[in-house]
Amino acid sequence: MTSPSAAMPHHIAIVMDGNGRWAKRRLMPRIAGHRQGVESLRRCIRACAERGVGVLTVFAFSSENWNRPEEEVSGLMELMGKALTREVPELRKGGIRLHFVGDRGGLSERMQRGLAQAEADTADNGRMVLNVCFNYGGRWDIAQAASKLVARGEPITEAALDRAMALAHVADPDLLIRTGGEQRISNFLLWQCAYSELYFSDRLWPDFDEAALDEALASYAARERRFGQTSEQVARVAAG
Ligand code: IPE
Ligand code: IPE
Ligand code: MG
Repeated sequence: MTSPSAAMPHHIAIVMDGNGRWAKRRLMPRIAGHRQGVESLRRCIRACAERGVGVLTVFAFSSENWNRPEEEVSGLMELMGKALTREVPELRKGGIRLHFVGDRGGLSERMQRGLAQAEADTADNGRMVLNVCFNYGGRWDIAQAASKLVARGEPITEAALDRAMALAHVADPDLLIRTGGEQRISNFLLWQCAYSELYFSDRLWPDFDEAALDEALASYAARERRFGQTSEQVARVAAG
C-alpha cells in the first residue's frame, strides 16, 4: 500500500453499472441488460488477463440490490446460476482463480454449493484472481471482520481488521472503475479503496469494451500516487 504507482495496476476493481439503462434504451427488459453485462464481463476478464492484471474484483450484486423488484432479483440469481455452469470451465482453462466475496448466508443452499464448487474447480489456477462480489456490501465486510476479532478476543487494530476482511487474500485495489456515469461508491469496497485511484466512465457496462478499458489504464498510468507524501518525495523514491 505504500509503494508509488506502477504504470499498470496490479488490482482493478469495477462497479459494473448501467445494465438496466442499456436494456431500456433498446426497449428490452432489464434482465436482457444483465445478460449482456455477463458478456461484457467475459470480455473484460480476458482483456485484463492479457494485459497482465493480477487481480480483478467486480461488483455483481450488492446487499442493497435485494430491494429491486422481485422479478429482477430472481432473474439475477438465475443468471448467476447459469453463468457458473457456463463460464467456469472456460475460466478454469484460462488460468483464472475465482473467489466469491460477500454474505453467503443470505443465498440459497444451492447457490452456496455452486459458488463453493466453482472456487474449488479453479483453486489451482495462478494467472489472475477474479473476485466476484455477490451479496456484498462494504459495511457488511467491516462489521463481519470486527465481529470475527471480537469472537476471538483480538484487539481491533487496522492490521487485524485488514486480515479479517473478505478481501484479505489480495492487496488493495490500485484502480477503481465505475461505469454507467454515476460518481459514487454504492457501498462497494469502503475499507480497501482508501488509496485507490478512481475512474468514472459514462459508458454503460455492456458497452465497456477493450478500448474503454485501455482509456482507464492510460488515465491510471498518468497519475501520481502520493499516499500522503509530497510530490518531491515520490519523485525521489521513483528515481531510486
Ligand atoms: C448494474 O446495472 C448491475 C447490478 C446492479 C446487478 P444496473 O442494473 O444497476 O443498471 P442501471 O444502473 O439501472 O442502468
Ligand atoms: C452498484 O450499482 C451495485 C452493482 C453494480 C452490483 P447500483 O446500480 O446498485 O448502485 P446505485 O443504486 O445506483 O447506487
Ligand atoms: Mg445501477
